[in-house]
Amino acid sequence: MRHQSVLRSVRSMAVLSTALVAAVLLGGCAKSTSNMAAPSLYSQLGGQQGITTVVHAFLINVSKDPRINGRFAHANIAKLQTALVNQIGQLSGGPQVYTGPDMYQAHKGMHITDAQWNAFMEDFSDTLKEEHVTPVAQQELIDLLAPMKSDIVGH
Ligand code: HEM
Repeated sequence: MRHQSVLRSVRSMAVLSTALVAAVLLGGCAKSTSNMAAPSLYSQLGGQQGITTVVHAFLINVSKDPRINGRFAHANIAKLQTALVNQIGQLSGGPQVYTGPDMYQAHKGMHITDAQWNAFMEDFSDTLKEEHVTPVAQQELIDLLAPMKSDIVGH
């Protein structure tokens, strides 16, 4: 009788300690998962170097696009490239600081049309694909640029 109850309490202790170990392990897992920060868009784009490569390739694509290349015929391309790299760097969480005019001021008086906006965004999206930016990062970056349309088009 006595022997059986000792056995029972030893068993229940074993069950308890197994549960305790499982709880600690699960707790540890949950904690480490929540501590795992997703890589920033900036790092997914390859930082300063990756963004510079994308912007450079984009401006080449724009220069070959008869729908909009005329708009950039008199543009200062070196200045535009630096401005875009800083703007995208800042938007994606990098240390860059865009110091140029806001998008309304920068495009005021250009009378940019919907069709030109669409062509610009299509060239940008194609460039991201050509430069092997992941689909998730492509979408994230497009989603950051899309709201600028109302400041850029039709003024
Ligand atoms: C999300 C879309 C766009 C972004 C983020 C953007 C960004 C910029 C930036 C940062 C500048 C330089 C401003 C400065 O430093 O003075 C600029 C200038 C300019 N943008 Fe845009 N832009 C966009 C769309 C467009 C579109 C759709 C067009 C025409 C099709 C366009 C045509 C120009 C031109 C012609 C300049 C002046 C370049 C110069 O004179 O040197 N942009 N843009």
